[in-house]
Amino acid sequence: MNLKKLVESAHKAKRNSHSPYSKFRVGAALLTQSGKIITGCNIEVSSYSLTLCAERVALFKAISEGYTRFRAIAIATDVNEFVPACGACRQVLLDLAGNIDVILSDGKKRTRHVRLKELLPMPFDDSMLHHP
Ligand code: THU
Repeated sequence: MNLKKLVESAHKAKRNSHSPYSKFRVGAALLTQSGKIITGCNIEVSSYSLTLCAERVALFKAISEGYTRFRAIAIATDVNEFVPACGACRQVLLDLAGNIDVILSDGKKRTRHVRLKELLPMPFDDSMLHHP
């Protein structure tokens, strides 16, 4: 799979961003192990804290459609820097998608590649839930 297509999909998904409060558009495109692309955008509501980030929208959509194994996620914005997913999304992505490749893309469609664990180096995970 061509990562350029994944980045393009994230920028395209960004067009559906519902962000009347922040005016900060984000698109995400998740690549499944089988090669399918599932996209999401940020969705804001008047009670601001109920907003969902693009990354979680894409991931929850994918899981709800039966996809459970992932290779990469592309995250696209309009700004002139790389936006590396918020802390909440890093946790959710690591829990549900594992240490996938993350491709950040700015408003000029430049890209930067990182692994999710570089963004969340000392993660909480479900192994800590098991008491002796
Ligand atoms: N946002 C995302 O969708 N993903 C990120 O990685 C960072 C933040 C959204 C949430 C909110 O709608 C807007 O960007 C400003 O925080």
